[in-house]
Amino acid sequence: MSFERPNIAKMHGYSPGEQTGSGDTIKLNTNENPYPASPEVAAALRSIDVDSLRRYPVPMADAFRESASRLHKVSPNNIIPTNGSDELLRLAISTFVEPGEVIAVTQPSYSLYPVLAEIQGCKLFEIPLQANWSMPADFFPQLEKSAAKMLILVNPQAPTGGLLSTEYIAQLAADFSGIVLLDEAYVNFVDPELGYDSVSLINCCENLLILRTLSKGYSLAGLRFGYGIGAESLINPMMFKTRDSYNTDHISQQLANAALNSTAYSKQIWQRVRADRETLRTRLNELGLATPVSQTNFLLCQVPDSIGAKNLYQLLKQRNILVRYFDQDQLRDKLRITVGKESENLALITAIKQIQETSP
Ligand SMILES: Cc1ncc(COP(=O)(O)O)c(C=O)c1O
Repeated sequence: MSFERPNIAKMHGYSPGEQTGSGDTIKLNTNENPYPASPEVAAALRSIDVDSLRRYPVPMADAFRESASRLHKVSPNNIIPTNGSDELLRLAISTFVEPGEVIAVTQPSYSLYPVLAEIQGCKLFEIPLQANWSMPADFFPQLEKSAAKMLILVNPQAPTGGLLSTEYIAQLAADFSGIVLLDEAYVNFVDPELGYDSVSLINCCENLLILRTLSKGYSLAGLRFGYGIGAESLINPMMFKTRDSYNTDHISQQLANAALNSTAYSKQIWQRVRADRETLRTRLNELGLATPVSQTNFLLCQVPDSIGAKNLYQLLKQRNILVRYFDQDQLRDKLRITVGKESENLALITAIKQIQETSP
């Protein structure tokens, strides 16, 4: 006997990348930051008194909202803190999209979107990216035809690493009658010279909701803290109606606040990851694994048929190196590799070389 709603009974849940307890594994599979969070975050953690946990946390994480508003030059009322940015996705869908309405996404993109759409009983409309991962020229006509209530767009793109310009996003938000949920989980790794900044668009685009996370750029994936930025008409229904009463806990609030107030440290980390990303990309291309430019902390490389992506994934795993293989269209011949520490990237390259030398 099953008590599940019919759509839940027939759906598959999200499959997360493997997590491992083993210290010797080189973990390049879930786009975590290889460097620790800032010393200010460590100090904030040390200063937490267990007695403070007797009480409920500040319901709306006021101090964090203030810090985020200073960082992004918006009002605290434009910010909603969430328990990881995954919670923001779930909140936005359950607040704004009726069961039966359409959610549009690009294909490929973050594999949690279809799961969340399914939970809400929404229809999913997938618009495939072109072979070179650029947006199809008829993206907007396709979107309009879908009659989608919400478009979820990841930028920089995942798992491809490409970047859409601020101008493209602005035009899309202006033309689209539904909500544009812009997932900027990896935005901290974008080359600063590109001048990408979508936040000011919330002043002119009332339908634009931007997702940010502290998991990647701020090295706090284990903490579960993200936030949304948008017009008050988007933030308020989630903030005052659909959010859990205490959706972020006291410890997370202190640490997340310290992270946003130590951006000098984080900027150095982002620069290091960008530099290592370029070195790793060059090495992968030299080994014949075609790897396009990425504006994230991961690379999506094409594995020659002579080795095969799934096979390479397994051979690397045998050597205690985890990368991500997606068993889905457009991705079966590719691996997504998180940029690790210099030594980890080197170990990966050495392992791929050895595998190539020993394969028939
Ligand atoms: C594109 C994208 N968006 C959002 C998230 C969610 O991040 P978190 O819930 O850790 O904030 C991830 C995590 O991997 C991601 O890849």
